[in-house]
Amino acid sequence: MDLNSIYNDALDDLKNIKNKGDLPLIKSKYIGRKGKVTELFKELTSLPKEERKDFGQKINEVQNKLKELFEEHEEKFRLNAFNIKLNDITRDAYPIESGRTHILNQTYEDIYNVFKSMGFTVVEGPEIEDEFHNFEALNFPKSHPARDTQDSFFFDDKSLLRTHTSPVQIRIMESWEPPFAVISPGKCYRRDTIDASHSFMFNQIEGFLVDEDIGVGHLKAILDIFVQKIFGEDVKFRLRPHFFPFTEPSMEIDIGCIFCGGKGCNVCKNTGWIEIMGAGIIDPNVFTLSGIDPEKHSGFAFGMGVERIAMLRQNINDMRLIYGNDLEFLKQFRG
Ligand code: PHE
Repeated sequence: MDLNSIYNDALDDLKNIKNKGDLPLIKSKYIGRKGKVTELFKELTSLPKEERKDFGQKINEVQNKLKELFEEHEEKFRLNAFNIKLNDITRDAYPIESGRTHILNQTYEDIYNVFKSMGFTVVEGPEIEDEFHNFEALNFPKSHPARDTQDSFFFDDKSLLRTHTSPVQIRIMESWEPPFAVISPGKCYRRDTIDASHSFMFNQIEGFLVDEDIGVGHLKAILDIFVQKIFGEDVKFRLRPHFFPFTEPSMEIDIGCIFCGGKGCNVCKNTGWIEIMGAGIIDPNVFTLSGIDPEKHSGFAFGMGVERIAMLRQNINDMRLIYGNDLEFLKQFRG
């Protein structure tokens, strides 16, 4: 094959090139170690001496010309790729993932917002409590099982990891003058074996309001707004008589089952109702122990599990998922 047609073939190949990856192939086809042009050099020896110099020069020229052309094409591909990136401004530079608030904190925030809108102040209490604030001042009888080391995490005879957020009621009553309305969030600890609905550590939000002439009607009015904002406008709730040592009367608050609308399902155990919190009117004895005059003041208190609220709202059936740090699970809750 003569030099000219090899050159023309190379030009054709370059013209028809479809993608960048073909360039090295074409390059080696012509000027690689076994390329068509390179092979011609080997033929030089079979030529008469006087023609060698001339032909050698010609092959050199073609080889250099092709080298230049290949370089130009390489540059062209490089610029094209660059321009595509620049022109497509909608293209991600790299997959950017934004973080989001943990489902538990989203739930906390939602609950804070509801109570803040009604004038409640958020106050945190200590996680290491003493017997007095965790039990004594809350009217827990000496024989109550929670006071046993088997049920709570005691450090010594007097101090323990709080088993609920109710001791914050006492701490505020000891140091603030009524009227006040407080919610108090935070971790609580009990000697529970971990399963789908229990954990040795969990989160509660305590709420309490102390003023004059406060009764169940006030509690109900606050709960009405809470249930509407957290579970939905047409979700019903009821106050069911219960017992807590530090409230009298005491009650549990149930909402109409949000899964079956009250018809009965396995979540509400066919009762049509789901328990969401404990509540009651603060026992006069608790006021006395905290230095507040029960003749003058009255108030209500309530306490709820934050995990439970999150699980009900998001239809999460295992509490362990909330603590598991499985991003695939957590990513679902966009906040
Ligand atoms: N502290 C109670 C519990 O942990 C809940 C509660 C709070 C009940 C306030 C009544 C009033 O079960």
